[in-house]
Amino acid sequence: MSLAKLKPVPEEPGDAGEAFAAFVADDASAQAANAVARQRGWDTGEVRHGDLSAALRQLGIVPPAAVTVVDLDDATATERTLSAVRDLAAATRLVTLGTHNDVELYRRVVDAGAADYLVKPVDAETLADAVARAEQQVSGTHAQAPAQRGRCIAVTGARGGAGTTTVAASLAWLIAETHARSVGLLDLDLQFGNMALSFDVEPGSGLREAVEDPERVDEIFIDRTAVSLGDHLDLLAAEESLDDVPAPGEHAVARLLATLRERYNVTLVDLPRALVAEQPDGLEQISDLVIVSDLSLVGLRDTNRLLRFLSHQPGVPQLHVVANRAGRGSKGQVAVTEFQRELETGLTRTVSFEPEVAAKAEMAGKPLPAAAAKSRAGRDLHRLMADLTAPAASRRRGLLARLLGG
Ligand SMILES: Nc1ncnc2c1ncn2[C@@H]1O[C@H](COP(=O)(O)OP(=O)(O)O)[C@@H](O)[C@H]1O
Ligand SMILES: [Mg+2]
Repeated sequence: MSLAKLKPVPEEPGDAGEAFAAFVADDASAQAANAVARQRGWDTGEVRHGDLSAALRQLGIVPPAAVTVVDLDDATATERTLSAVRDLAAATRLVTLGTHNDVELYRRVVDAGAADYLVKPVDAETLADAVARAEQQVSGTHAQAPAQRGRCIAVTGARGGAGTTTVAASLAWLIAETHARSVGLLDLDLQFGNMALSFDVEPGSGLREAVEDPERVDEIFIDRTAVSLGDHLDLLAAEESLDDVPAPGEHAVARLLATLRERYNVTLVDLPRALVAEQPDGLEQISDLVIVSDLSLVGLRDTNRLLRFLSHQPGVPQLHVVANRAGRGSKGQVAVTEFQRELETGLTRTVSFEPEVAAKAEMAGKPLPAAAAKSRAGRDLHRLMADLTAPAASRRRGLLARLLGG
């Protein structure tokens, strides 16, 4: 066990976050945030258009700012909102804004660790005062002093063979390489998982015991089980025999993910769809769920079935649908436009069908974008990674555009 492995996440060596960052949803709030930044000599470039989900997207990807202003906009005190506030407040001193003048909401947001909740519209003076008060908050004395947690992106397949493992491996490798953040990659298909194979390494041992007996999951377990795949990337995987089916313990997925999020800036999971249904409380640990499908009718049907199932769960992550193996040469496909039309949510990205490139990557024991960065599929996967890690929607219009320096 190396000393570097004992270092708590999310900080990487030499990382220093900005003094200040803001994610604001309207012109007046942007104006106030910019004024505060200018007054204090902070970078106004850190004032962005966005809201809670934009702020969450940055969690683990860039070092957290010392103070962050986040616009909850018209969010109410749902478990999803509060858990996002909890995650952010564990990483930064947090000032929230919102449209609801509601004492109960105020109380719950502050209980979740925010230094303040201000009702919009806010002027520069009010915001400057709140930021100054937040700075006084001694780190570690936030409401419940929650452990600092990174972000978790899970990838699941609408059907087998759609390319779930390819997408998960690619995203993990790209985030580790591009953002130089520590990434923990977890393959939860304990019997048929091929994540270790796709990186040409032997899986470690211990994952099965951890999944069957989640009480045993702690940092020491991660040290014993993780296999290093490079400076910033670790793998947790297994290759259990087929005649002895592992039986995941209660809350195993949630427990594992919570521990990994304390250790890594970003946790990437190859999540079998059966586990999504069997352990829905695991969803609460996941910030983004990527559903991978091919462009078949069965893929379309099962993507919609998964989306419907997820819409009934509490604490649903941000959902993204990726159509893999898209393009000529792949048989039995429906057209992308048709797939999109029938889908019960938007389509995030398509990834080109490139069997030679996929085979080359497999032979080389590398994730696809590492083996063929310039291929169409490699670029598509890079774009998907950028979608998932971009700071905020670049919706720059009118006054906001000028205020944000556009
Ligand atoms: N975009 C693609 N174009 C061509 N082949 C692909 C593509 N994505 C994945 N593959 C190949 O399809 C097979 C199944 O992929 P895999 O990621 O293991 O799927 P899953 O995890 O969904 O079962 C692998 O041989 C992989 O190399
Ligand atoms: Mg797989």
